[in-house]
Amino acid sequence: MSIDEFIDGVVDGTIPDEEVVLWLEKVFSEGLTTDETVFLTESMRDSGEVLSWPFPGLYVDKHSTGGVGDKVSIPLAPALAACGLKVPMISGRGLGHTGGTLDKLESIPGLRVSLEVDEIVEQVNDIGLAMVGQTEGLVPADRRLYALRDVTGTIASLPLITSSIVSKKAAEGISSLVLDVKFGRAAFMESRDAAENLARSMVSVSKGMGISASAILSTMDQPIGYSVGNSLEIIESVETMCGRGPVDLEELVCVLGGMLLRSSGMSEDLEEGASKIQDSLYDGTAFNKFLEMVGSQGGDKGIFESEYSLMRGLGILDSDLFSTTIEVGIEGWVSDIDAMTVAEACLEMGAGRKSLGDEIDRRVGVALEVQVGDYLEKGEVWATIYHSEERIEEIARMLSGAIQLSDSEPVVQSRISEVIW
Ligand code: URA
Repeated sequence: MSIDEFIDGVVDGTIPDEEVVLWLEKVFSEGLTTDETVFLTESMRDSGEVLSWPFPGLYVDKHSTGGVGDKVSIPLAPALAACGLKVPMISGRGLGHTGGTLDKLESIPGLRVSLEVDEIVEQVNDIGLAMVGQTEGLVPADRRLYALRDVTGTIASLPLITSSIVSKKAAEGISSLVLDVKFGRAAFMESRDAAENLARSMVSVSKGMGISASAILSTMDQPIGYSVGNSLEIIESVETMCGRGPVDLEELVCVLGGMLLRSSGMSEDLEEGASKIQDSLYDGTAFNKFLEMVGSQGGDKGIFESEYSLMRGLGILDSDLFSTTIEVGIEGWVSDIDAMTVAEACLEMGAGRKSLGDEIDRRVGVALEVQVGDYLEKGEVWATIYHSEERIEEIARMLSGAIQLSDSEPVVQSRISEVIW
């Protein structure tokens, strides 16, 4: 049976679960060559609808393997559109300790993320971007394969992860893709070597399918920026789109955007591309694109008029949302803030899902006052918890263990460890 026939049988159900599982287990234990992975990924892409576009070359997207406080896509997509690229961005929801772009966007009252394929196409053609969820029609093969991988312990396979991620991006009909592959204690891949293998596999397979792909390896030990929690991350994304974002977040947005501008021939090199993206954050064009997208997807643009209306619109000022500050008991340089502990505290408060289908509270989260490299006096506040239960002692205790102070000033490094072309 050819790989195309196998994928057809996966989608139409003529191949029973036991046979699909045998195949998954074989791939899990023996692996696939790059060429075989390309064929598999192409078959998966073609198992459903594939978007097609009038100006090939200009359509781009980004994928991140997920992190804590990872709101990069929210400022990045409008910045790319402001620079003339077209972004049909299909994202996921959060599960476990990592958040999802869709959950963050849904903090905006009225904003719809379930668009039909023709609505996505029309909106991208009109305003240059759409930020939406996976549609039923795209890559149906991945839904069945992923569900079977999930229950048979075959998730952690390089060719299966590669084909799952790349097929969904390829079905968007994009010509360039950038991947943010994270490593560290709060990343999908803890070790740098595993992250590098995944990045190289996804880049090679994308290129094998004619997509101009590149990747970064970036650290995921501390939260990105200062906010973790859906509504709080929208506020930080808006700050970033207005040129007032945290340095680490802005760097990720500019570098990933610069790579896509270079890949699609809109800039000579990464530096020129990154500087165009930064200009769009500082001159208001990225934020204007974001507002166009919010309006087009039914969201209430009025909440973005002032800082107060934004906080109110996102529910941060609701009378049943409480805030509790936590202070440090000693003075010193912040040498670590454990992203995993912050994420687990947020998950406990209902910011994320423990299992698929759980209800979440988009207003709750943690706003950090500091990042690694800052100095705190004894008794200074380092974080504010936004929570819906009045009793918060346990969460506060949990979070207190996330911060480490040191007597000496730590060296602050870029989160970006390597760029892979
Ligand atoms: N994300 C996906 O979409 N698929 C995988 O296999 C792993 C992460």
